[in-house]
Amino acid sequence: MRPGAAGGALLLTAVHCTQAAPSPSAGDSGMDALDTTPDTTSALDAHHQDSASARDARPRRDTSADTSMAWRGPARLSETGLYADPSRRTLAEGVLSFTPRYELWTDGASKRRYLLLPAGSRINTADPDHWRFPQGTRLWKEFRAGDRLLETRLLQKVGPGDGMDAWQVVAYVWNDDETDALAAPNGLENPRGASHHVPSIEECQQCHRNVRDVVIGVSALQLAGAPGTGSLADLGARGWLSDPLAEAPSIPGEAAVREALGYLHGNCGHCHNDDSYFHLESALRLRLSVRDRDPAGTPTYRTAINVPMFHFYDGIQLGVVPGEPARSQLWVRMSVRDLWAMPNLGSLRPDPEGLATVRAWILSLRPGG
Ligand code: HEC
Ligand code: HEC
Repeated sequence: MRPGAAGGALLLTAVHCTQAAPSPSAGDSGMDALDTTPDTTSALDAHHQDSASARDARPRRDTSADTSMAWRGPARLSETGLYADPSRRTLAEGVLSFTPRYELWTDGASKRRYLLLPAGSRINTADPDHWRFPQGTRLWKEFRAGDRLLETRLLQKVGPGDGMDAWQVVAYVWNDDETDALAAPNGLENPRGASHHVPSIEECQQCHRNVRDVVIGVSALQLAGAPGTGSLADLGARGWLSDPLAEAPSIPGEAAVREALGYLHGNCGHCHNDDSYFHLESALRLRLSVRDRDPAGTPTYRTAINVPMFHFYDGIQLGVVPGEPARSQLWVRMSVRDLWAMPNLGSLRPDPEGLATVRAWILSLRPGG
């Protein structure tokens, strides 16, 4: 049985006012490797857990092998090469700012992102769905609450080959003067008094290791925006792409469909894909390819619509039921922040716009189709 499942179901019942708390589903056994919580959580306890402890209790892979948080990279953000002058935050020469088309929801924090390649190097873009980055690549993602700088995350490729082993990842938490930020390998709750969670290295890895070469938002699909926004055209103009695409890729379908496919790609596809650590336990795939030509052919349609999920609540078995968001597990799990929450880390509050986007899409689907 899935630990804490009854608690998740109970909260779901409270939110959606359906029947009595359903019993946890059968068919969970294969997921046990993901569950590290003791089987003692009572439904009531789980229901009253605050979001922070619920996050700790959520299923996660046993990462005991890689929980050593010794950080051997730069201790300060000012040593990472992002700024020419850290106290004024003038960017170093060559740093490109970019924004993916479909951003990850992080409880409303505002973000900026930066990319720098070593001089003379290029991203290997031969496979447009799986870019491979040169050694020495650095990426930063900065988080603010209002005007206050909270943290800046770093991905830096320090080794040869692809995948997590070649990368150093960590978040830097800003000081009150905003003159510099210090590495926080174990993460931090509520930096500078803001309601915000700084992920630990282990948490960074739980998302970033599921994508072949670790970088998630610098991709053909995510950068197909207007020139000047750190788009494909801008990277191409710098000579940073080994195999520029003749045409920027587009997501298929009408507006409501495209928005939902893009949202699910940006917020879920980095975990729900063929390279993910749990790809054998769940068949749900929400990552798009530049080759997708019609909605019905996308992994999202093929693995979610009218498809039973591995885990299910009684009454909420299918990933997506056309026309019925409240009976669609995708939408329902996006709306909770308990043990069943999706995403299962990185967010303490559901995304109202994301929920509306996915709801509109599900309502637009024809029943039976
Ligand atoms: C819940 C999943 C999740 C966690 C946890 C997470 N990231 Fe990310 N990260 C993403 C996604 C998705 C993107 C791309 C979309 C975006 O930027 O909005 C991204 C983007 C980035 C980027 C910009 C380059 C890129 O890959 O697109 C950096 C740098 C980054 N993350 C670093 C980190 C570091 C360091 C940590 C840990 C301190 C971390 N991230 C934790 C999901 C996550
Ligand atoms: C950080 C990784 C991660 C992200 C991001 C993520 N998921 Fe998941 N998801 C998982 C894991 C692990 C499981 C399997 C364990 C479980 O069911 O909780 C799962 C399971 C699911 C399931 C049940 C699948 C099945 O076969 O039983 C659904 C539905 C789901 N996720 C929807 C979503 C949606 C929608 C999003 C984006 C809004 C999302 N997930 C984002 C990790 C993630």
